[in-house]
Amino acid sequence: MGKLGIDLHLDVGGGPRARSIEAALREAVTTGRLPAGTCLPGTRGLADDLGIARGTVVAAYAQLVAEGWLVSATGSGTRVADVTLPHAGAPHGPVRGVVDLRPGRPDLSLFPHGQWSAAVKRTLAAADAGSMDYGDPAGTRVLREAVATYVSRARGVRAEAGAVVITSGFTHALAVLSRALREAGAHTIATEDPGLAHHRQLIHGAGLRTAPLPVGPDGADPAGIPARAGAVLLTPAHQHPRGVVLSREARTAFLAWANERDGFVVEDDYDGEFRYDRHAVGALQALDPDRVVFAGSTSKALAPGLRLGWLVVPPRLRIPVLDALAATGASAGVPGQLALADLLDRGDYDRHVRRTRQLYRKRRTELATRLAELTDVPLDGVPAGLHALLPLASAREERRLVDAGLGAGLQLAGVHAAGYWHSARGGKAGLIVGYATPPRHAWRPALDALTGVLSGAAITPW
Ligand SMILES: Cc1ncc(COP(=O)(O)O)c(C=O)c1O
Repeated sequence: MGKLGIDLHLDVGGGPRARSIEAALREAVTTGRLPAGTCLPGTRGLADDLGIARGTVVAAYAQLVAEGWLVSATGSGTRVADVTLPHAGAPHGPVRGVVDLRPGRPDLSLFPHGQWSAAVKRTLAAADAGSMDYGDPAGTRVLREAVATYVSRARGVRAEAGAVVITSGFTHALAVLSRALREAGAHTIATEDPGLAHHRQLIHGAGLRTAPLPVGPDGADPAGIPARAGAVLLTPAHQHPRGVVLSREARTAFLAWANERDGFVVEDDYDGEFRYDRHAVGALQALDPDRVVFAGSTSKALAPGLRLGWLVVPPRLRIPVLDALAATGASAGVPGQLALADLLDRGDYDRHVRRTRQLYRKRRTELATRLAELTDVPLDGVPAGLHALLPLASAREERRLVDAGLGAGLQLAGVHAAGYWHSARGGKAGLIVGYATPPRHAWRPALDALTGVLSGAAITPW
């Protein structure tokens, strides 16, 4: 809508009009629907289109100008400011000029460029012409061996190279696994509730259903496995997003279920290397390698842009997984695989994890300390990983804080807003603070801004 300039669709929802318009415009800029420089409709035209008072639109525009989302110049109307998206249109892309405190990324400025480029150079210099062929769909032998050694050593996985399959990260692995599980007879995968919406979408994309698996203070609840489930997807070392650890009793119960019902457990070990208060809990896979698919990724330890991950696959699923890999037509490129194998073999990978672990541990402690000045309610879950859940009283409070965060230059993620609950009605609310993501220079200012936003917030334990 909008009589002058562009045709602008705004989903203004309910709530106070000015705030709804602000939120809708912020959303349109953040998602790249309104690129930098776009000339917005005049206030009179937009007010007419929305059937509201012109003053309401004027107030919304003024607020967004003050926050830096819009610029207004006499004679040339109101335009979208230069907050250009590095990945315009990508739902997870960060916004320039705004510090990203959503979960999912490590501090990308810590990526070991020198070590990575040295590894690429070394391995390509040593590689023969044949190594640049299509190669083994399960991944290069040298990386499968390096991964088997690494996950056995660092995560206690029972693995040998023959069981390892290299993927383009966990996202690809889950798409492949879902197809393989369907071939093996599964119709439904139970996934944690709350859990990542994107993972449910990947499972649906492979023609399977998902069913909610409730998560409590001891992690996913095996008593809640739906009768129709043929597999369960778990984050045992550090539940995403609650941050709790799967209890010993629950581990045993999930494995008993898998054996009784001929089911499989998919262990998403996305940030298992990052535990700060004690040694990380070993992989569930070690207790039953015939029933558990272990999945790891370089996205937290190195960088998501590498698109490299691995599966350790039970013998019965190996052929279905290789068939599914062929069906998706995607596999990880050889140069990246060779470089990663080199970093793992030389111990550079471990050293990098140790270095970043110290840094993220410090950030989590700082976050917890600052929060303790505001509330007695602690962060949910254990000190681990790259994010922490701050429980809130209501979805409305969550929405308010996400909006206030944008006003203070922070991108925040809410459990409700980011679609973590299976049901649209959802459950409890909270912010998932990705404290690892900001580059070092931006961390302290981001923490100050976050503390300001949270002052007076309705924080209550789950
Ligand atoms: C729960 C969970 N699993 C897995 C991943 C890793 O996905 P990928 O390896 O595709 O980057 C993430 C990254 O954000 C995650 O949050």
